[in-house]
Amino acid sequence: MLSAVPRPRAGGGASVFASLLESRTGQELDAGREWRIETALKPVLRERGLDSLDQLAAALLAAPDKAVADQIVDALLNQETSFFRDAAVLDLVAQAVAALRGTDLNRRIRIWSAGCSSGQEPLSLAMLFAEQAADDDQLPEIIATDISEASIARGRAGRYSQFEIQRGLSVRRMMRWFETVGDDWVARAELVRRVQFRQLNLVADPLPIGRFDVILCRNVLLYFGPAMRRHVFARLAEVLRPGGLLVLGAGETVIGQTEAFRPSPTYRGLYEPTGMIDKDAAAA
Ligand SMILES: C[S@@+](CC[C@H](N)C(=O)[O-])C[C@H]1O[C@@H](n2cnc3c(N)ncnc32)[C@H](O)[C@@H]1O
Repeated sequence: MLSAVPRPRAGGGASVFASLLESRTGQELDAGREWRIETALKPVLRERGLDSLDQLAAALLAAPDKAVADQIVDALLNQETSFFRDAAVLDLVAQAVAALRGTDLNRRIRIWSAGCSSGQEPLSLAMLFAEQAADDDQLPEIIATDISEASIARGRAGRYSQFEIQRGLSVRRMMRWFETVGDDWVARAELVRRVQFRQLNLVADPLPIGRFDVILCRNVLLYFGPAMRRHVFARLAEVLRPGGLLVLGAGETVIGQTEAFRPSPTYRGLYEPTGMIDKDAAAA
């Protein structure tokens, strides 16, 4: 059972879905982007034999159904990603990890890919570290989470189309880390087992246990409102260890958004915790 389908904002059927998306994920859809709702939900309408968004909204309000709501939220999420997206940033993360480990080669570095979509980001990190490590004991622990159950299932399966595999992967890496199954490419077990995939809603779910050395939360907070963004930054700060690093997407920043992070003086474009934990925002 869906606990509640949120009260729609003005604007017809589309607003029911915008409200549902926001209440579940923190993501806001601007008015004027309703075309996106229509395009994204076309397959859901077709599957359910409905003609319009208004019909789907009415059905959902009359009989809230978690499976339908999950399918709608999934369809509305922007899950754009690719292997080695902003590759220079991942190289910088690898450099930072080597420095964080310092001379203590026994310390297990912990990395969290928060909002990992279908797994290309954490699998890219796993490839990068495996290619650089002298032995398996030096490999970081990589946890990868996303609100979308379907995306997490895809990451765990490690199965990608020809189009997806070609986006960001060199032929050498394709051959080294993947094998073909029919028309698809499937990550070898030795790669997938290096990433722990879990479903997790950054806005509401309990966070992973323990502290992380690096958190990547790239291209996730873009569509959050300011209060929700501050809330998530405060939560991330709680599980990043002092001296650890936060990695955001190319168009994102902490400046003017939160007091919990500041730009790293050492790693350009990355952020470090200030130590000011905003308990109110974290709990909000
Ligand atoms: C645009 S993708 C970015 C993927 C990857 N980080 C990258 O930069 O390539 C954004 C991801 O954030 C996830 N997401 C959105 N809201 C979320 C939330 N509240 N909790 C967890 N994940 C969320 C979406 O499901 C989507 O997979």
